[in-house]
Amino acid sequence: MTVKQDIEDLKQTIHQHDHLYYVKNSPSISDQEYDALLRRLRELETAHPEHITPDSPTQRVGGKVDERFKAVVHPVPMLSLDNTYNVDEVRAFHQRVLKGLPDVPEDSIEYVVELKFDGLAVALTYENGLLVRGATRGDGLQGEDITANLRTLRSIPLKIDTESFNRIEVRGEVYMPKKEFERINAEREAEGETPFANPRNAAAGALRLLDPAITAERKLGIFIYAVGFLDNNPFKTHYELQEKLDALRFPINKHNRLCKNFESALVLIEEFRDKRKELDYEVDGLVIQLNSLAHRKKLGETSKFPRWAVAYKYEAEQAVTEIMDIVCQVGRTGSITPVAELKPVLISGSTVSRATLHNEDEIKRKDVRVGDQVVIEKAGEIIPKVIRVLEHSGKRAQPFKMPNVCPECQAVLSRLDGEVVWRCVNSACPAQLKERLKHFSSRKAMDIDHLGPAVIEQLVDSGRVKNFSDLYTLKTEEVAALERMADKSAQNLISAIAKSKSAGLSRLLHALGVRHVGQRTAILLARKFRSLKTLQVTIYDELEKLDEVGPVIAESLQAFLDRDSNRQEIERLLEQGILMEEQGDAPESGGLFDGQQFVLTGTLTRFTREEAKEKIQSLGGRVTSTISKKTDYLVAAASAGSKLDKAQQLGIQILDEEALQKLMESG
Ligand code: IVH
Repeated sequence: MTVKQDIEDLKQTIHQHDHLYYVKNSPSISDQEYDALLRRLRELETAHPEHITPDSPTQRVGGKVDERFKAVVHPVPMLSLDNTYNVDEVRAFHQRVLKGLPDVPEDSIEYVVELKFDGLAVALTYENGLLVRGATRGDGLQGEDITANLRTLRSIPLKIDTESFNRIEVRGEVYMPKKEFERINAEREAEGETPFANPRNAAAGALRLLDPAITAERKLGIFIYAVGFLDNNPFKTHYELQEKLDALRFPINKHNRLCKNFESALVLIEEFRDKRKELDYEVDGLVIQLNSLAHRKKLGETSKFPRWAVAYKYEAEQAVTEIMDIVCQVGRTGSITPVAELKPVLISGSTVSRATLHNEDEIKRKDVRVGDQVVIEKAGEIIPKVIRVLEHSGKRAQPFKMPNVCPECQAVLSRLDGEVVWRCVNSACPAQLKERLKHFSSRKAMDIDHLGPAVIEQLVDSGRVKNFSDLYTLKTEEVAALERMADKSAQNLISAIAKSKSAGLSRLLHALGVRHVGQRTAILLARKFRSLKTLQVTIYDELEKLDEVGPVIAESLQAFLDRDSNRQEIERLLEQGILMEEQGDAPESGGLFDGQQFVLTGTLTRFTREEAKEKIQSLGGRVTSTISKKTDYLVAAASAGSKLDKAQQLGIQILDEEALQKLMESG
């Protein structure tokens, strides 16, 4: 046998064992035997590098990725699914299907029910059998090229049998197993880093790492649930197609079920309500979809959802526990958020010991007091919240009283007319400073790696860092002297700080934390004014006139730039060599709401309409006044009228103010 053939056979064998291990969960050889195969392949490849091919299992981890992932336009848009929350809504879906297929007898309509995995949608393209591209969903039309990272997932075949098609794009959900999530969070906590809020965020983080070798360590999984395109499609049903993908060794979930009628699909909702909790990955609902591809074609899609499928979402999990204490947290802008410290309780697979109480008015409205038994809820990535107090008898603690002074710096708190939040207005407040530094160094701002909360804590508490510019005067020896800081990590931090000097104006503007100036606005301003100097001498009127910058942003920015302390800080940053110009074109996108259209209706109470508009715009979204097919979200507050009806008819996603706020904060 030739060496080439030897290598080919080994690759095949290893691929087969990868499939048995990572997809079927039933390895047929021991880890030692597997390692020996891999070692043998490596040896042969080292001796004969001319036979190394990209589909070799030794080539999963490739070189580093560019600082920015390339944009990828999806040849076929990646739609999302319409959500339903109760059986009646699912029945209504079935009725719509029947109406759309008037010539099809009900008893010949089959459904496929699959688990709805709570991860990230990706698309994998194979050409002539080889994996050539892996991309994120992004906004559905355009995603990011994360091929190098996706290649590291051992359940993704690098090569498939090409007998049937030359080009195929499969779609699936990447997830982080619950166990892996716990392992990584424990590690992060031990290192003083902020733990991930949930497995989905952790998976998202791992997919966007610039070093695929680290992605490979994160043990991500994937389930393939659909085909984006296929150059010749001989299949009549989704189920057949899934079977074919399974035969091609794609990871297909074993709980997929073919239902001969609608009623049997409904039964599965109950079956999986509890069963899903025992799985090693998060499942937030079920996907109920027509089996026949011809039926699907007949029904078609709206601009967002297919009409032939629906997602049934399980309700957020609730738990009952006791409020041990109510403490106040100070945010970056001095906002004071009351937080409930809870008797630890298990909910959706993780232990929860804190929940947000939002603000003073919310606490009053729910009448939450220390010692109360409360119902808490956790939905997706959102921090758990206190829903209500359980019936109580007997003596209760006194009602909660908001402190008069900042819990961190003791400055007197103030609350502006019309606002619900209390604020500490002491700009030297150490708690605010810590939060500002976290924001300053965050990935979308100055992107300073290795500056974790534990380091910030020590730097601020010792008085060594009083503002952003102090970071740039730190010496390696000083950093190395901090607790739990090895020499190597100290050097890494110092070089990360030095590197951030050339981040450029848009990042700097975002990092400075000017109220209402988010990432998107910072990019706009940087692109327009090119340097901080120019911006400093620009008058309010000129700012306000800019598309997407209204009076609220203009006023906030002007006030920030006019303040003496800020001017001095900008001077100090300049002295430290921080780049205050924008070089090249400012990045085109990056806002959470990039390209999304919003309509506001009803009487808003959490923000003024102008504030909501500017905030949405600062995140890249647009606010229009009429609902159309292009509208992505309707924000409906109290006494919303006809717009709400119209949005419902068009299947547009409807948010209340709270949901909008959460969405904004999720970025
Ligand atoms: S089928 C046209 N099947 O849910 C979209 N999606 O809300 C067809 N998802 O973006 C999607 N598990 O990321 C489908 N078994 C499953 C899924 C699934 C999770 C995600 C997917 C999609 C989102 C839609």
